[in-house]
Amino acid sequence: MASELSGALTLGLALREAAAQLKAVQTPLLDARILLKLATGLDDAGVIARSDDKLPTDQAKMFAGLVKRRAAGEPVAYITGVKEFWSLEFHVSPDVLIPRDDSECLIEAVIARRDKHAPYKILDLGTGSGCLLCALLEEFPNSLGTGVDCSAAAIAIARANSRKLGLAPRARFLVGDWAKTLEGGFDIIIANPPYIPEGDRAGLPVDVADYEPARALFAGESGFNAYQAILADAPRILSPGGRIVLEAGDGQAGRLVEMVTKTFPDAEILTINDLKGRPRGVIAERKSFAEKD
Ligand SMILES: C[S@@+](CC[C@H](N)C(=O)[O-])C[C@H]1O[C@@H](n2cnc3c(N)ncnc32)[C@H](O)[C@@H]1O
Repeated sequence: MASELSGALTLGLALREAAAQLKAVQTPLLDARILLKLATGLDDAGVIARSDDKLPTDQAKMFAGLVKRRAAGEPVAYITGVKEFWSLEFHVSPDVLIPRDDSECLIEAVIARRDKHAPYKILDLGTGSGCLLCALLEEFPNSLGTGVDCSAAAIAIARANSRKLGLAPRARFLVGDWAKTLEGGFDIIIANPPYIPEGDRAGLPVDVADYEPARALFAGESGFNAYQAILADAPRILSPGGRIVLEAGDGQAGRLVEMVTKTFPDAEILTINDLKGRPRGVIAERKSFAEKD
């Protein structure tokens, strides 16, 4: 244990010991290094350069405590309080889902073949940390965004993130039940809603099931409740020529395409694949006024 050896540990040894303690997590060495940086205040280069230096006792104690939390299942991002998404840094807490790298394919799908300088109105339903909305506002510097979440705590975090990223003047955040009370006119709607069937709860990894907010994960028996609620209002609020992008869970893209096709029979609808080539979302582009007969 790092805490027992704290008097004699070098940074390099502490790192290796911590990685050994974290062998049950997916990325032991990476997680150990992130926690060592937090405990020492060093960056990656500093950890390498000072690998043979003795770890001061107070830092060794702090490091041991952090490693213990990670070994118990607490996600690294909740321990450090930050997570990078779309090369932007987001503050996170257990009030919000930790942004997933996989969700970046939604951003790519939205920005493909769009005019970067157009003044779009963007809506992010279930905004959580605000990661999707902030990434899109970064990409579309003349656009305005609305983020909605049913959790006031999540909205406070999203708002703070938009401020830290200098996006607050173009972003508003509202507590609400999906799009029920919103007026229309959105050119882009994005949502990564909860989509895990209630019955799958027991099979989830501990760091998800025991730490991330249930309202961000589960969507009824089928996992499709949130999609249904969002699509019920989508035709009213999506502008002609607009795009709606929905993240899909494993094995859900096919049924989601059917639901979106039923909602927007005239739209061009495509499945979005993530970096590993797995279907990860659905995008629908509504016909513009000019394209309608
Ligand atoms: C899967 S998380 C996505 C968070 C963030 N957009 C992301 O991609 O990291 C789903 C979010 O939907 C929110 N949510 C759940 N039910 C909702 C509802 N009825 N209305 C609005 N938001 C809701 C949750 O609070 C949660 O923040």
